[in-house]
Amino acid sequence: MKQLWIDCDPGHDDAMALLTTIAHFEQANILGISTIGGNQTLEKVTKNAQNILSFVNSEIPLVKGKEGPLIKSLHTAPEAHGNTGMDGSFFKENHYPLVSENFLQYIYQTITSVEDKVIIVGLGPLTNIALLLEVFPDVKEKIEYISIMGGGISHGNVTPLAEFNIYVDPEAAQIIFQSGVSVVMAGLDVTENAEITVQEIQNLEGKGKASHLAYELLNFYNQSGRQFGFLNSPIHDLCAVAYVLNPTIFEGEYHHVEVVTDSGTARGLTFIDKRKNSKVPENTFVLKEVNRNKFVGLLVHSLEKLDLY
Ligand code: BDR
Ligand code: CA
Repeated sequence: MKQLWIDCDPGHDDAMALLTTIAHFEQANILGISTIGGNQTLEKVTKNAQNILSFVNSEIPLVKGKEGPLIKSLHTAPEAHGNTGMDGSFFKENHYPLVSENFLQYIYQTITSVEDKVIIVGLGPLTNIALLLEVFPDVKEKIEYISIMGGGISHGNVTPLAEFNIYVDPEAAQIIFQSGVSVVMAGLDVTENAEITVQEIQNLEGKGKASHLAYELLNFYNQSGRQFGFLNSPIHDLCAVAYVLNPTIFEGEYHHVEVVTDSGTARGLTFIDKRKNSKVPENTFVLKEVNRNKFVGLLVHSLEKLDLY
């Protein structure tokens, strides 16, 4: 059984990642979920996480993390995810409980209390995870790897060079890449090919409770994606959990990845060292190719499983 901690900022694609992982409870145990200000404010993304977890009758501990990045102020993405951060669906009023303890302490204690190593999944700006590694460095021994959606080695989306999650908190991202913990990076190079088509979104309509929720959310996300030139919808964050659940969906290569933290046009850029005589050790498995059919199949199958509960 894999042991997972998921850090997220839901977010339409975060929602797909959460639903898919929850559906795989027989193979992946989610020890807890933390939220981070990103796609929307911390209050809003936490409410969205509560809505999703309540929707599936989950009992997974939910912890509210940090409001914003380590140094700069928070940059949100309402143009992609709407005013709530997860526009497109209406959820029943709920009071899904939040863990009241200090979030870093709680994550640390949870990870160090299980026998196996834990996989950390980062679906938003990497602030919470960076703080965890800085404040409790011994936690690194308990981490199998950190699977992130973030960055890209050929282009960005917020700026020509920087992807949203890294752009929001480059200092945090650099801490992760330099931590000595293995990283799996699902950057834009692969996530923009991990698309669901308009027809595949349409096929989810009215199929069952979870499928229909995904239909509503993805429908909004598809419409908002048009302004960025996407006809189909890349489900970026789902890549980071799909790799954990079934690595054969992807192909990748080991590289040394770094982040530009200078202020200037390259802020938030992730780059790899491709020099043949490079002496820097590889720190990241960079995902390069996705089998789109298997990827969408994983989502559809997971939703069908949730439909039965
Ligand atoms: C990333 O940014 C967010 O808007 C998405 O949820 C995803 O994590 C894609 O660049
Ligand atoms: Ca996200």
